[in-house]
Amino acid sequence: MARRSSEPAAAGTDSPVVAPARSSALVPLSAVEWDATTYHRVATPHLGWGQRVLARLPLRGDETVVDAGCGTGRLTAELLEKLPEGRVIAIDASTNMLRQAAAGLVPRFGDRVRFVRADLQTLALPEPVDAIFSTAAFHWVPDHPRLFRHLHAALVPGGRLVAQCGGGPNLAHLLERVAALMAAPASAPAFAGWAGPWEFADAATTAARLRAAGFVDVATDLEPAPTTFPDAATYGDFLSAVVLRSHLARLPDEAARAAFVGALTEQAARDDPPFGLDYWRLNLEGRRSSLAPGRG
Ligand SMILES: C[S@@+](CC[C@H](N)C(=O)[O-])C[C@H]1O[C@@H](n2cnc3c(N)ncnc32)[C@H](O)[C@@H]1O
Repeated sequence: MARRSSEPAAAGTDSPVVAPARSSALVPLSAVEWDATTYHRVATPHLGWGQRVLARLPLRGDETVVDAGCGTGRLTAELLEKLPEGRVIAIDASTNMLRQAAAGLVPRFGDRVRFVRADLQTLALPEPVDAIFSTAAFHWVPDHPRLFRHLHAALVPGGRLVAQCGGGPNLAHLLERVAALMAAPASAPAFAGWAGPWEFADAATTAARLRAAGFVDVATDLEPAPTTFPDAATYGDFLSAVVLRSHLARLPDEAARAAFVGALTEQAARDDPPFGLDYWRLNLEGRRSSLAPGRG
């Protein structure tokens, strides 16, 4: 299939790009782009969380697996290491993320890894895959019932979904402070009518949504993952590039963004321990039935 000029494998490689059948259904670019370089540098908590999720995915080593919301590809690399005779389709909505992932992965793994820029909510792959792995991505996807229907349809009969994202009371303490700043007169117009970027679902709701999408052998649970950062600069960079990227994008200029992050960093400096984030992770698993469609 021909590669369009905007597609990520142009990052100095000739890696083939799989284009999804409904690639035109992407969400607007302004909402999906990330600062991939900063994310790659600061998102160390995500690596540890993701490694534990990857350990839960049973693999023979010759499967084709999707990394759904692959980001800059650090966990995609670890997934590929577990698939010496298999392949990974690395999917993300952000071109910046995919370019960074391609730059790191193609020299190591060649054509065993392919890249797709797509919205997971409307994902449609040309061929079904053996498994779907995903970390720290699904809470950025607003419509979970739709997401799970598309992921289920992307699996072969018997294929597995093993994933983790933010859920339940994720970041509730931080978000109280964020809400107070958003309501301040200087910021309120920028956030008027905005519901926020995340779906932090609980375990029971997610299990019901997975079953409704057709998954069997469903398991979900929430686990606390409190995380502290060594200093104000690291904490502020993390808020800016990861947690609050969508919030900050709504503010009118760099001064407003710096003031917003600065106020939160000052408050976090007075916490005990300082510079902590009250993360909660939602683990979710399911399998597409081995029976023919329509028979369970
Ligand atoms: C926090 S990063 C996680 C990246 C990687 N999985 C990790 O654990 O480091 C979230 C990723 O999900 C992607 N993402 C969010 N919403 C998406 C959507 N609707 N479709 C595809 N990718 C999406 C973002 O572009 C971003 O790369």
